[in-house]
Amino acid sequence: MNEEQRLASQQVKQPQQEKDYSKYFEKVFTAPSLKDAKKRGKEEVKYHKDFDIEEKFLHMGEGRKFYIRTYGCQMNEHDTEVMAGIFMQLGYTSTEQIEEADVVLLNTCAIREGAENKVFGELGFLLKYKRQNPEMLIGVCGCMSQEESVVNRILKQYQHVDMVFGTHNIHRLPHILNEAYMSKEMVVEVWSKEGDVIENLPKKRLGSIKAWVNIMYGCDKFCTYCIVPYTRGKERSRRPEEIIQEVRELAAQGYKEIMLLGQNVNAYGKDFEDITYRLGDLMDAIRTIDIPRVRFTTSHPRDFDDHLIEILAKGGNLVEHIHLPVQSGSNEILKIMARKYTREHFLQLVEKIKTAIPNVALTTDIIVGYPNETEEQFQETLDLYREVGFEMAFTYIYSPREGTPAAKMTDNVPDEVKKERLHRLNHVVAEYSAKALKELEGQIVEVLVEGSSKRRDDVLAGYTRKNRLVNFKADPKYIGHRVLVKVTEAKSHSLLGEFVGKVKEEVELIK
Ligand code: SAH
Ligand code: SF4
Ligand code: F3S
Repeated sequence: MNEEQRLASQQVKQPQQEKDYSKYFEKVFTAPSLKDAKKRGKEEVKYHKDFDIEEKFLHMGEGRKFYIRTYGCQMNEHDTEVMAGIFMQLGYTSTEQIEEADVVLLNTCAIREGAENKVFGELGFLLKYKRQNPEMLIGVCGCMSQEESVVNRILKQYQHVDMVFGTHNIHRLPHILNEAYMSKEMVVEVWSKEGDVIENLPKKRLGSIKAWVNIMYGCDKFCTYCIVPYTRGKERSRRPEEIIQEVRELAAQGYKEIMLLGQNVNAYGKDFEDITYRLGDLMDAIRTIDIPRVRFTTSHPRDFDDHLIEILAKGGNLVEHIHLPVQSGSNEILKIMARKYTREHFLQLVEKIKTAIPNVALTTDIIVGYPNETEEQFQETLDLYREVGFEMAFTYIYSPREGTPAAKMTDNVPDEVKKERLHRLNHVVAEYSAKALKELEGQIVEVLVEGSSKRRDDVLAGYTRKNRLVNFKADPKYIGHRVLVKVTEAKSHSLLGEFVGKVKEEVELIK
């Protein structure tokens, strides 16, 4: 018996007592299909509000610990909070130490090959822990689970994985765990559907200062390079009253900042059939809630409407920072990316935003080395970057994703050229970021204090409304509050400052 077979045989879990498990056990093997995930039908979105843990599962986690590692975007981070909430309702406790966990979940991201490779690397690494503790359950969830190529690879090469479940199956976690405890086989449950909205899932929030709030799920944009519409289903909005209620509760619990989440938040409300209610309306309602800072991500330039700009211009708790991914500055590339806007349209939108919100900070996402991108087309991206004067950007080399239209395109751009373009772009990004930071020297900024430096208790760190990191010396009692800080020095990625005083709205709250 080789090592792998020996390990596999150790993994066979026998029910602990003689009991008829058949009533619990429905053999689970639902594999993903990117082809099905691509369909967009006419059925209405179903809203569920009846999530409940069945009684038979209530003690499943007693004496057991869970560990979740999260990859990818904030939506995944927030899904992790939901799964942590479910684990806790099942009686599990959380641990930061993989080796003492009874269940390990990898909540994965499929956006680029590099993201996937990290997960496969980690899965290989987990074999060591499984050897030490054959009872440990290992699960893969998140966007990678929605890809059949990934599930096939896990079935073949990573047999120490006990369960694979998809982004539409999170609420099924109690059942999936139960199956995994009972079954000798890998449990695979991935629904490739357009998706519903499930409202009352529990959440164990990871922070106490900032919170994420989903406003919509899925994406219908189908940019030709992107896997998200396949992994997350169709665009479906949460009802405004549910979102507003959640934000109110967070405000009452003392949260200071909320981030509204969606893959394309500007499409919010497009799917409502009974009401006309869009992102501008939602922001206008949230504006009146007593929570100091409200952000949203991610915006798509195409659906960014004038009403939203008008509302954002009212300021208050709506911060003057907009993340607006442009992807490319070349009309030809934008066209083959199916972004459905032009460079001119993007610049016009930026102009409108800057006129309405003169001190706005704009940040973006850019992909370089798209199939057949020419040097001229890349130059147009650099020019656009300078013309807008973005304060920061996430920059990527194009990564082909199986199942997407772009993956079928022939590509004549050598890897070295792509790397070199990324390098040149990053140089411009760093230059503009440094310039934006330098301009703050001598100014007083509002900082939401998130914690103290690892090495020194009296060095506090927090973020400005435009999401710039500031370090300064002050009493740790300010953690969790907004304070005023005078910027003394701009570093390459952050600011140094001197404590000036409390923000007046919070004077009463700081003891
Ligand atoms: N919904 C958001 C983006 C989500 S993905 C939007 O439309 O703006 C985050 C970023 O990853 C994208 O903005 C894009 O720049 C990058 N990205 C997505 N797919 C990619 C791919 N196949 N290769 C390289 N970068 C990619
Ligand atoms: Fe992907 Fe485009 Fe949707 Fe963003 S808008 S998630 S880039 S398909
Ligand atoms: Fe990644 Fe899925 Fe988010 S692919 S970026 S985790 S939506």
